[in-house]
Amino acid sequence: METLRAVVVFVHLLGFAVLFGAWAAQAFGGKKQFTQLMNVGLAIAGVAGLALAAPWGIEWTPGMSFYLKITVKLVVLIIIGGLIGMGMARQKRGGTVPSGAFWAVGVLALLNAALGFFWH
Ligand code: HEM
Repeated sequence: METLRAVVVFVHLLGFAVLFGAWAAQAFGGKKQFTQLMNVGLAIAGVAGLALAAPWGIEWTPGMSFYLKITVKLVVLIIIGGLIGMGMARQKRGGTVPSGAFWAVGVLALLNAALGFFWH
């Protein structure tokens, strides 16, 4: 069980890598647009994250802090999804992504990674 949980954490990290990598490629030298790959990374991180939100494969009993953390992470994920969805709809109509929305996606992806990493 512990090994399986470690595999799911690894998949969760892959989702983060795909999301943040796709965003960074656009941010630094790219066209600062949202891409389908960002949605793929977000979906991988989201599905694996929901699987990790259940207390299996761990020896400790999760307290309030654990559930507060995953609730915050879920809200951040929904905001990221909303920003990407809004930006992609604009792109489809030939418009551009507002730069605030574009940078917010990178910052919020990093925030969720930091919450997972540092909040214990
Ligand atoms: C953009 C979305 C997300 C990103 C980039 C992200 C990133 C990360 C990272 C980097 C870790 C640290 C892994 C480690 O070193 O052990 C982590 C852990 C974790 N994440 Fe996420 N995450 C995201 C969304 C979510 C969501 C939506 C949930 C649940 C609803 C979630 C639940 C968890 C859990 C339960 C852990 C393990 C924390 C622990 O064992 O204390 N994540 N996440």
